[in-house]
Amino acid sequence: MVGIFSLVTGWPGQSGYGSASTAEQVTAGIDASNLTAVITGGASGIGAETARVFALRGAHVIIAARNMELANEAKKLILSSNQTARVDAMKLDLSSLKSVRSFADNFIATGLPLNILINNAGVMFCPYQLSADGVEMQFATNHLGHFYLTNLLLDKMKKTAKETGIEGRIVNLSSVAHLHTYDEGIQFDGISDQTRYNDKKAYGQSKLANILHANELSRRLQEEGANITVNSVHPGIIMTNLMRHSFLLMKVLKIFTYIFWKNVPQGAATTCYVALHPSLKGTMGKYYIDCNEMKPSIFARDEKLAKKLWDFSELLVKSAQ
Ligand SMILES: NC(=O)c1ccc[n+]([C@@H]2O[C@H](COP(=O)([O-])OP(=O)(O)OC[C@H]3O[C@@H](n4cnc5c(N)ncnc54)[C@H](OP(=O)(O)O)[C@@H]3O)[C@@H](O)[C@H]2O)c1
Repeated sequence: MVGIFSLVTGWPGQSGYGSASTAEQVTAGIDASNLTAVITGGASGIGAETARVFALRGAHVIIAARNMELANEAKKLILSSNQTARVDAMKLDLSSLKSVRSFADNFIATGLPLNILINNAGVMFCPYQLSADGVEMQFATNHLGHFYLTNLLLDKMKKTAKETGIEGRIVNLSSVAHLHTYDEGIQFDGISDQTRYNDKKAYGQSKLANILHANELSRRLQEEGANITVNSVHPGIIMTNLMRHSFLLMKVLKIFTYIFWKNVPQGAATTCYVALHPSLKGTMGKYYIDCNEMKPSIFARDEKLAKKLWDFSELLVKSAQ
């Protein structure tokens, strides 16, 4: 109830921020000039606004996108309002593990440090489709590509954190839609089974996987004593290109539920807060909505499920190579 009240009114929660807070507001006064960040899907929507605000705070931003034309446009747009911004665009298609590997290789070859990884890119409610590696598209793009990317960039992040003494941060963009998944949470015995495919549940499943991934990685990094935190967020409901497969449905839904919707600057606030705010130092394995910690679903809090998903994802990556 408190969550819905603050969502509708914008009333700030414990953090001092709420649903009405924008990415600029939650990062006001933060100096990110010593940070380098990779933002997947940074060419549009929430990712583009996250990239703009990171650059505004002085961070070196790498927009990782599958469409280089859009990525270069997003870069140009940032530079048009901030001539000193440090922004680069690099090719990444998360639905192809080969492309993920080549992005990671290219990024590492630049010699840049890496402090922050925002696993933001995503697709929603697409008709049944297989990725380049033969995996159902929403699971492949939203979870598996990010799982592999994170693993490939982890050594670089650990090294950066060690050399600079600055805490590294990974943020996974999940969704409240993680509550609406298949009966068993993750359909391990038929992840790409077309006969059981439901576009809404497949999206929910992939967003559940984003939280489970963050939690299991967080546990592993803590065990290792690595100076890197991992958390997941629900950004709110925002009209973006994400709705391309459900545009009419969302337009109609918005008429009846407009009080629950955010604009893009508000939609990027929770990501920016979790990635940059000093009050979150050392915080890991948590889930945030409207810049405040919330409890995710029972499945999302299931440590055994998180471990099982990790092993399953590792196997999928291995079998694709
Ligand atoms: N908007 C919401 O209401 C909402 C709610 C909850 C959670 N989220 C989450 O927030 C994140 C950002 O979504 P958004 O609303 O900002 O949507 P968006 O504007 O569509 O942004 C998603 C980005 O991901 C990119 N992408 C898709 N498939 C990719 C692939 N295979 N490889 C690399 N990049 C790929 C898209 O690139 P293209 O332009 O090339 O497609 C786009 O730039 C998503 O993870 C989404 O699940 C959004």
